[in-house]
Amino acid sequence: MKLLVTGGAGFIGSNFILYWIKNHPEDKIVNLDKLTYAGNLENLTSIQNNPQYTFIKGDICDLGLVDKVMEGIDIVVHFAAESHVDRSILNPSDFVLTNVVGTQVLLDASLKKKIKKFHHISTDEVFGSLELNDMNKFTERTNYSPRSPYSASKAASDHLVRSYFHTYDLPTTITNCSNNFGPYQFPEKLIPLAITNLLENKKVPVYGDGLYIRDWLYVEDHARAIDLVIQKGKVGETYLAGGMTEDVSNLDLIKKILNIMGKDESYIEYVKDRPGHDRKYSVDWSKIKNELGWEPKYDFEIGLQKTIDWYKQNVEWWKKIKSGEYQNYYQKQYGAAI
Ligand code: NAD
Ligand code: DAU
Repeated sequence: MKLLVTGGAGFIGSNFILYWIKNHPEDKIVNLDKLTYAGNLENLTSIQNNPQYTFIKGDICDLGLVDKVMEGIDIVVHFAAESHVDRSILNPSDFVLTNVVGTQVLLDASLKKKIKKFHHISTDEVFGSLELNDMNKFTERTNYSPRSPYSASKAASDHLVRSYFHTYDLPTTITNCSNNFGPYQFPEKLIPLAITNLLENKKVPVYGDGLYIRDWLYVEDHARAIDLVIQKGKVGETYLAGGMTEDVSNLDLIKKILNIMGKDESYIEYVKDRPGHDRKYSVDWSKIKNELGWEPKYDFEIGLQKTIDWYKQNVEWWKKIKSGEYQNYYQKQYGAAI
């Protein structure tokens, strides 16, 4: 099999490629990535000379290029996206271009080349927000109700994928997963931001009252879920993947990290809230469990410990990122607060 992975130099895409090469040594992977601020080929140095793997720098919105790259591809695994909610609030247009137009370009090319499967990576954020005291979870039947430019653009991309299945019989599948964490995550997202700030002896910015709830999934578990859906998922179907069995607020999460890293609560800095901040996400992953036998392997505390260890052992990786352009973003987002 030959896979086209889009956005394979990002956090989840690179973890997925490393996972796939290890678990499917007979397959070939082409990684198409524009290398935006979030794309980092250092995530893939261990396989850069592997004959199974090819990298192509390019934009998924470029139809001519996508048509060429799609030659001989069996399966498309589509990760490429603008992925950070805060940046979507600062600048929504990049999100519409890559997440909506880029997805449509890939769908068109996939149709033309009659590819065997198009797997689309999406998010639980398309379902909007639960109330704090709501014990219901998102399921595959939950109505879409996106509330940020990021989640609205991802929702649009999901609708496009389904429309190509229904209208043109393109063999598609979708996974909507919860917040991933683990190695190689860009330190603008909460967990790597907290860990790397603490390693630099800086405070951790907590938005609003900190009582927001996310459903955390260790990235390797996500890669396994995608693998199963690609191999055994039913065409036209959507599968949700999540990790948590109980609610953990951002504040609880930061306290867990402080505790593991031997820091006290004076390292918590409350900062202004995110506009339109979704209160709670919680994912019911019983469909993928019952139909495909998937469940997360890593308990939250173990995943967190592994992640902290990784950032401790890979200081050079994140120090490079946190210098340069990153400083401008950090200043814009957090101002003088930290
Ligand atoms: P990321 O921001 O770390 O990586 C995105 C990658 O896409 C980067 O390598 C970037 O260079 C590339 N890219 C961006 N625009 C491109 C374009 N126009 N053409 C080609 N490449 C482009 O993102 P991530 O956290 O790894 O997320 C990957 C996917 O998973 C996204 O679709 C995201 O919506 C989805 N997702 C992420 C999470 C999460 O917690 N991180 C959870 C659910 C779903
Ligand atoms: O739910 C899946 C989504 O998870 C993915 O689709 C997105 O691509 C991914 O970025 C992530 O979105 P979130 O907005 O939930 O992740 P983030 O790490 O930005 O924030 C997690 C929570 O922490 C959220 O409630 C906001 C809060 N937060 C975040 C930052 C960066 C803070 O309190 N302080 C911060 O500095």
